[in-house]
Amino acid sequence: MAKILFIGDIVGKPGREIIAERLARLRTELGADVVVANAENAAAGSGINGTIAKSLLATGVDVITLGDHVWDQRGWDDEIDDFTRVCRPANLPESNPGRDHVIIDVKGFRLAVFTVLGRTFMGLKADCPFLTADAMLKKLEGQADGFLVEIHAEATSEKIALGWHLDGRAVAVLGTHTHVPTADAAVLPKGTGFLCDAGMTGPYASVLGREIEPVLGRFLDGMPRRFEVAEGDVRISGALVDYDVAKKRAVKVELVTVRRASGR
Ligand SMILES: [Fe+2]
Ligand SMILES: [Fe+2]
Repeated sequence: MAKILFIGDIVGKPGREIIAERLARLRTELGADVVVANAENAAAGSGINGTIAKSLLATGVDVITLGDHVWDQRGWDDEIDDFTRVCRPANLPESNPGRDHVIIDVKGFRLAVFTVLGRTFMGLKADCPFLTADAMLKKLEGQADGFLVEIHAEATSEKIALGWHLDGRAVAVLGTHTHVPTADAAVLPKGTGFLCDAGMTGPYASVLGREIEPVLGRFLDGMPRRFEVAEGDVRISGALVDYDVAKKRAVKVELVTVRRASGR
């Protein structure tokens, strides 16, 4: 059995801090063999940089994935190629820097991890996530024993459709981007684990990780404001996938939530 802990979008300093404080213990408590985390919001709520990537990798994250905020921090496009355990979304134009997947050894099982961006209500120019996922599976055949596919998308329908599309062909299809964890963790009939959204790792006394007041104000009067990262009710949110390597199917998927002990 391989236990994969997948962590939803790490948001700003509060998200990074709870990872530094709690991930090592959580890993032990859950018996996780590998930790994959989306860190597209790790730097001040938007994007990532080399220093933050290094510190996340040093605090127990094995693989870092990214999303539509991948290029928000200046200079990261020059740094990303130095990181062998970081991948950018696979369906971005090929000319984008960075790897389109990471393969990590999980107790002898070669797990390939990649992300595809959805295209419904999303900003970046991305190829079809369904066809890209098919192409990735084909490209990595023989190099990997299983695939953890992240669907970074707004529309639940697109995420669920990708789950069905890859059922029986992926270890799990796990969603990110909405920052709201969903209650639909399941193993699909052909053995692929699924969760529509793993939620965010960051402050929940917020609007998707940002301070409530300016976001609410923007909705009320439409005037521009700075959306700073909020601070209250910090949680880790993610999914734990139990995968039976011998039977080649996921056995269980569950949502994981960890609240900061101090209740801040
Ligand atoms: Fe995000
Ligand atoms: Fe996103």
